[in-house]
Amino acid sequence: MSKYYQVVEDLEINLEELIACYEEFRESKGFSTDNPDNIDFNAICINRKPGDPKSISGGNIRGIYWTYPDNSGKEEQRLEEVEEEKYTQICPEFKGTYIETLYEYLTLRFKLGRVRFLMKPPRSCLSWHRDPEKRLHIPMITNGGSRMVIEDESFHMPANGNGYITDNTKYHNFFNGGETSRVHLVATLLPPKEVNNGGLLNIDN
Ligand SMILES: [Fe+2]
Repeated sequence: MSKYYQVVEDLEINLEELIACYEEFRESKGFSTDNPDNIDFNAICINRKPGDPKSISGGNIRGIYWTYPDNSGKEEQRLEEVEEEKYTQICPEFKGTYIETLYEYLTLRFKLGRVRFLMKPPRSCLSWHRDPEKRLHIPMITNGGSRMVIEDESFHMPANGNGYITDNTKYHNFFNGGETSRVHLVATLLPPKEVNNGGLLNIDN
């Protein structure tokens, strides 16, 4: 039992269809990044703010995070906060595809913000950082040398149809030490809404 992630074993997803769909869009759409000099981050955004293409451009592609860039012990913020709860519309190019089917299924089960395909090239590594929220990972294409490190724990997420809820609010990184690309579907998981209902505090997922 890990302190930092949990496995979701009952996801009803067709991984083969998801990968086929992703590969089609990788060809036609290509990856986005906020900084082309940074090779470790490559995304295809799946949802956006309704009618707002700008919501999947610039710093919104990666989103706010915090890191320790040097040995001074000073934590620094990078990029700006993203209005995650407003990402409620599938991007138009995915309408009618398996990606839309999966997106609708996931939004019934989880309270999601941004949903992205994230590709890490071979032998690449993210910064040591923390994010504002937890994430749901669905590994699609991976290798045994692709590992997430959260605090003092490292683990591999096999592409076997399971989902993984990772605590990205703790310091973490992800490295692909293999020689093939790694692709996960990654969704921001928003905290449950607190609803004050007649004096009773309900948790509405
Ligand atoms: Fe992160």
